[in-house]
Amino acid sequence: MIIAPSVLTADLADLGHACKEAVSAGLNWLHLDVMDGNFVPNLTFGPPVIAKLRKALGKGPTFDAHLMISNAEDCFQQYIDAGCDHISVHAEAVTHLHRCLTAIREAGATVGVTLNPSTPADIALEVLPEVDLVLIMSVNPGFGGQSFIPTVEKKIRILKHAIDAQVAAGGRPVQIQIDGGVKSHNIAMLREWGVSNCVVGSGLFNDSASVADNLAIIHSALE
Ligand code: DX5
Ligand code: ZN
Repeated sequence: MIIAPSVLTADLADLGHACKEAVSAGLNWLHLDVMDGNFVPNLTFGPPVIAKLRKALGKGPTFDAHLMISNAEDCFQQYIDAGCDHISVHAEAVTHLHRCLTAIREAGATVGVTLNPSTPADIALEVLPEVDLVLIMSVNPGFGGQSFIPTVEKKIRILKHAIDAQVAAGGRPVQIQIDGGVKSHNIAMLREWGVSNCVVGSGLFNDSASVADNLAIIHSALE
């Protein structure tokens, strides 16, 4: 199970330190929540900040850009140039999704399609051969610290079945990543559903404990 810290709930005034704390705790898949204040009602950071984070952290960690923006198909290259290894775009925000996904892969990044809670699995099934990851939103995008939406279970099980069939037929393996409201009390259940990559924001970055201590609680829930 990959635990991917979402830095959205970290101290954004000291983002480099927060990322280094996560990497020091052994977390090497950093989930970067890019928000434009248009596709979602919040605004975070973009390529200039990501480029500085890449400089500060070096080549080691995987930078996973979750693009909650309205113009991903026009500007994904800027995120790759800034140092992102992986780009996930929202099916709801891209006009020509198949073309956008293949273009991101041709640009040298791994690629994911993201589904909001009300978006059916069928959209991802149509582009499953083109992606490395399907990102299932278990909250409505825009903010950390929200409650988990359990109705995504059905969508995840449908995807897991389709991915298993694709791999059995010699096709590309695909991670199921879940994002929003993931904590120690539900992460083992998510693994049973077929999730292999969990984004965790406020469950790791909060005032009650360090990232390492919060991670230890999550790991014990997976034992
Ligand atoms: C929400 C973001 C999530 C969020 C996760 O739009 O995409 O990555 O930061 O935070 P928690 O784990 O606190 O729900
Ligand atoms: Zn996210």
